[in-house]
Amino acid sequence: MKILIFLLIFKKLYLLFLQKNTQKIMNNDLDLFRSIAEELFEAEKLEPVLKPMEPLALFSKLDISLNQEGVDEETFAKLLRDLVLSTPRTASRKFFNQLFGGRNSKSTLGELLAVLLNNSMYTYKVGGPMIGVEKELIHRSNELLNYPAEADGTLAPGGSMTNLMAMLMARDKAQDSARTEGMRGQLCLYTSAESHYSVPKNAAFIGVGRNQLRYVKADAQGRMDPTDLRFQIKKDIKEGKQPFLVIGTAGTTVMGAFDPFEDLALIAKEFNLWFHIDGAYCGSAIFSERYNHLLQGAAASDSFSYNAHKMLGTPLSCSLILVKDKRFLYESFANDADYLYQTDGDDYNLGKTSLQCGRRNDALKFWTLWKSVGTKGLGEIVDWQFDLANHALKYVQGNPDYTVYSYPNSIGVCFNYKDIPANVLCNQLYQSGELMIGYGQFDGDEFVRLVTVNAGNTFADIDVFFQELEQFAEANLVNS
Ligand SMILES: Cc1ncc(COP(=O)(O)O)c(C=O)c1O
Repeated sequence: MKILIFLLIFKKLYLLFLQKNTQKIMNNDLDLFRSIAEELFEAEKLEPVLKPMEPLALFSKLDISLNQEGVDEETFAKLLRDLVLSTPRTASRKFFNQLFGGRNSKSTLGELLAVLLNNSMYTYKVGGPMIGVEKELIHRSNELLNYPAEADGTLAPGGSMTNLMAMLMARDKAQDSARTEGMRGQLCLYTSAESHYSVPKNAAFIGVGRNQLRYVKADAQGRMDPTDLRFQIKKDIKEGKQPFLVIGTAGTTVMGAFDPFEDLALIAKEFNLWFHIDGAYCGSAIFSERYNHLLQGAAASDSFSYNAHKMLGTPLSCSLILVKDKRFLYESFANDADYLYQTDGDDYNLGKTSLQCGRRNDALKFWTLWKSVGTKGLGEIVDWQFDLANHALKYVQGNPDYTVYSYPNSIGVCFNYKDIPANVLCNQLYQSGELMIGYGQFDGDEFVRLVTVNAGNTFADIDVFFQELEQFAEANLVNS
């Protein structure tokens, strides 16, 4: 008996020791995280853009190799630090290359906690209150869009995936049997020539086919032309095809243009087509009292997607799709799984309306931001990005050395400097570690595209951007 009691006490103490040891390792790793983060913040200030590492030199400059044996703590810490400090700095004030950038503290905190908790957002049993967090984001977004009470939505890993979800729902609505029997006949869909490349990819994924995608003409500012849309739909009907979907864009990837949603909604209604708005880039204008007029007519859509990781500055990825009638979400995505859905009912088991099984908690980082600044604060973030873009636009419009290609109401400012080809200027700025900036094309022209999506930037950062671009061009490229 005494031996049994002794063994039980020993086991308890041993378990306690193991637990303490695990905690100690975690705390050490959190200390390492903090020290690397502090070094990174300093490095971002001193060297906002890194000279790129040649891909072929990567494995000789950094110890990335994975081996049979692990490394000791000290080596591990050094390798990790080197890796982090050699990685492109997307949060710096000189990163203008993509449609995301900057670092929002509250949102980063939310993301870190989501990783620590490591829930999966498919069931209430496993997600708990985080399910409420996701539902609240969807509910409030639907209100801002003026969708009706029966609207719903979900989060998916990125704007390409939320577009895919919309396209699948549209296909299933048009051809109920596609879900069970596979596709038949020739469905066709319509989007502007300026829309995102996920649309043709998804057209293939949903079994409709890339060749059934019709590119509708865009006007001089990059907005879809409703007359051409109507013309193309009628032509397809005449040829015996089955039009099923129109995809408008709120913020086209290059020009940042907003399609004429009221007109598109009327045409979609007339021909009984699903109307989706891809707002991955600038759908967050729903938060701005100054700019939500750009989304006039969006409430008439069947689905609307937007990325909080673009204009609102949450960490990647955070993409929402809102659906006017939640029935379609269930019809296209629900599947029974007795081993998974065991409690709480469909409304709180978010896996029932998802593309995925295991789901990251992408909601918390958006919620921490929204909760801390309020809806008003999110509107101010959006307004500030337009202010930054207007500041940049005014500068290039007032300077004869620049040719301007963009228009007001866009956070992408497009221009060329003197006669320097945009690809040469952007690639050399990158190679020399001066600025991270990309280029785009529209209507036969190629130009530099400055994206003012980092709400942490100031007018002074925009001024410095132009100063550095000009100095670099004069020293390295003019008349060369
Ligand atoms: C208009 C538009 N739609 C969709 C996407 C895709 O979003 P994600 O990168 O989150 O997949 C982008 C990305 O730039 C975009 O600009």
